[in-house]
Amino acid sequence: MIVVSSTAWMQEVALEARAVGRSVGLVPTMGALHEGHLSLVRAARCETDFVVVSLFVNPAQFGPREDLRAYPRDADGDRRKLETEGVAVLYAPPVEDVYPPGYQTYVQVEELGARLDGASRPGHFRGVATVVAKLFNVIRPHRAYFGQKDAAQVAVIRRLVRDLNFSLEVIVCPIVREPDGLAMSSRNAYLGAEERKAAAVLYRALREVDARFRAGERSGEALRQVLVDRVAAEPLARLDYAAGVSPEDLVPLENVVGPALVAVAAWVGKTRLIDNILLAARPFET
Ligand code: PAJ
Repeated sequence: MIVVSSTAWMQEVALEARAVGRSVGLVPTMGALHEGHLSLVRAARCETDFVVVSLFVNPAQFGPREDLRAYPRDADGDRRKLETEGVAVLYAPPVEDVYPPGYQTYVQVEELGARLDGASRPGHFRGVATVVAKLFNVIRPHRAYFGQKDAAQVAVIRRLVRDLNFSLEVIVCPIVREPDGLAMSSRNAYLGAEERKAAAVLYRALREVDARFRAGERSGEALRQVLVDRVAAEPLARLDYAAGVSPEDLVPLENVVGPALVAVAAWVGKTRLIDNILLAARPFET
């Protein structure tokens, strides 16, 4: 594995791989890698010849009162893990390389970027779309890998790829969970022991929504209310949003007749956690 910190060099290396006929896979990350990230890396390794993992804690996607400085970092651990996975290139640029002095171009996915996490974290998806568009331009991947864990991010990136004519395939991998169901996240490291136990409420609540749905409940509001009630019953958790929306445009659903994304965000102590499930009505069973 080569470790590349210069963007100009990264561009050269990736273009060269493409030129000799290799398929290029990109896994964008902010590091502090866990099994969720590694599942994307393994998918990329299976499906492409030349895997680039980017590691960049992107200041543009953090709000002024968010955890940019405290964001977990583990450069040595990350390097070791990626080496073991057989990654070709670890691209870890410094901030000044990605946003040099005078930088002023941003990508905004207007409506989608203001829904779910975009509503709770104004400017977040502008930062995500900007850095991901830059990564696509630098690395020119044939395939780019993202986790369903960040379902709104997936919707934003799919829209970005269509709207800006990026010639690549977006691959979305399933959520990797801890044994008690908590979705793996770099931010789980912030949780104290009691908070860590309490955090399992999110997936339990989502499972209950799924059970109600299977039992025939189709009202978007009734399903959403299950999340609201379950999170309210956990004293260490505070709901940010609970939503039943269409997976592509993230618009609230009155009735679940097609595919639905059920998404939840909550604060557990000072840590904001997100999770989601997809519901799909079987044909003729609405
Ligand atoms: P980060 O939070 O580091 O996540 C990198 C990728 O790993 C994302 O696509 C995310 O959805 C995926 N991921 C995280 N936890 C996962 C889990 N438990 N199961 C499956 N996949 C999981 O998302 C970002 O970084 C940034 O916004 C980024 C896209 C890199 C742009 O800066």
